[in-house]
Amino acid sequence: KIYPVILSGGAGTRLWPLSRAMMPKQLLPLVSERSMLQETVLRLPEGATMAAPLIVCGNEHRFMVAEQMREIGITPLGILLECVGRNTAPAVAAAAHFLLAQDPDAVMLVLPADHVINDRAGFHAAIAHAAELVKDGALATFGIVPTGPETGYGYIRRGDAVAAESGSYKVERFVEKPDLATAQGFLADGAYYWNSGMFLFQAKTYLDELRALQPAMEASAAEAVRLAYRDLDFCRLDEASFAASPSESIDYAVMEHTRRAVVVAADIGWNDVGSWSALWEVQQRDAEGNASRGDVYLDGVTNSLVRAESRIVAVIGVQDLVVVETADAVLVTHRDHVQRVKKVVEHLNADD
Ligand code: GDD
Ligand code: MG
Repeated sequence: KIYPVILSGGAGTRLWPLSRAMMPKQLLPLVSERSMLQETVLRLPEGATMAAPLIVCGNEHRFMVAEQMREIGITPLGILLECVGRNTAPAVAAAAHFLLAQDPDAVMLVLPADHVINDRAGFHAAIAHAAELVKDGALATFGIVPTGPETGYGYIRRGDAVAAESGSYKVERFVEKPDLATAQGFLADGAYYWNSGMFLFQAKTYLDELRALQPAMEASAAEAVRLAYRDLDFCRLDEASFAASPSESIDYAVMEHTRRAVVVAADIGWNDVGSWSALWEVQQRDAEGNASRGDVYLDGVTNSLVRAESRIVAVIGVQDLVVVETADAVLVTHRDHVQRVKKVVEHLNADD
C-alpha cells in the first residue's frame, strides 16, 4: 500500500502578512477556496492501493488541521503531532516508524502541504511510475524542468536512464540550495532538474538510509514513536525523544548523500507558491493581468496582486505591485522584490 504522508509544518514567511506562525501558508485558502492542505489531500490518487493520508504537523496547528479535514470529508489515517519542529528528515522518520508498526511493506508518498500541481493526471502517472521503482529499494524524487536559477530549491543531475524511454533516471548528484553561480551552471548544463520536494520510497528503505547517515536522528524518531500516545484524534510523538533529534531537512540529511536515489521527470504544472509573485503567476487573472481577492477597487492597475482581508483597498494607476491588506498589517511591494518579504518577518521577530 502507498501511504500519503503530508508535511504541514513550515511557516511560509515570504507570504507575510497573510501567512503567520499561527496560520501558516498551508492552512490558508491561497489559490482556491480551499486551503493548500485541503487541495493537497484532494488531489491524491484514489484506489485500493492508496491509504488515507497521514499528516505530520506542529502541536499548535492540530485543531485547524483536523477541522480542515472534516470540512472536506476526509478521515486521515492519523495526525502525528510534533511538540517542536525538527525539520523534514525527523518528521518523515517518525511517519516511517508509525507506518512500519502497522505495515512492514509500507510505501510512503511524502508531500509538502503547500504546492500547486495543475496536471493531476500527470501527477498520478508519475506516482505510479515511481511506485514501480521503489520496489527494489530506490528513493524516488520527482524532478521539475527548471525555468530559472532559483537558489531556494534542490537540484538533481540525472544519470543513466533506469529503463529505456521511461523518463526516470539514476540520480548522479543532488545539491540542495546552491548559490546563484552554481545554479546558473546547473541550468547551462541542461541535465539538472529541480527537486519538487515530493518523495516516494518504502518506509524501511528510508529508515535504513537514515540509520546509516544520521543514526541519532533515526533513533530519536524510533523512540518518539515507541513512546507516542493517543490524544483525542491525534498521536503525540514523545516530546523528549523527538526534541532530542538533530534538526535537518530530508534533502541535506539523506538525498544529498544516498546512492539509492532515482528521479522521475514530472512535467505536472508544479509550483511551490513560495512568494507573492509565484502566487500571482498561478492565480486566475483578469484582462489587465490582476489577481485580486476581497473588497478591492482597481483603476488603471495592471499585472498586480491585490488582496483585501478586512477593509476596502483602492489602488489607482500603478503596475506590477503586490498589495496585501490584513487587519493588523499591510504589505506594499513591487513584484520584483517579493523575496525580501521574509526579512520583514525576521525584523519583526527580532523586536520581540
Ligand atoms: N511536519 C513538519 N515538520 N513539516 C515541515 C517541517 C517540520 O519541522 N519543516 C518543514 N515542513 C514542511 C513544510 O510545511 C513544507 O510543506 C515542506 O515540509 C518542505 O519544507 P520547506 O521548508 O518548504 O522546504 P524548502 O522549500 O526550503 O525546500 C524543499 O522544497 C523545495 C521545493 O519546494 C526541498 O525539498 C528542496 O529541495 C525543494 O526544491
Ligand atoms: Mg518550500
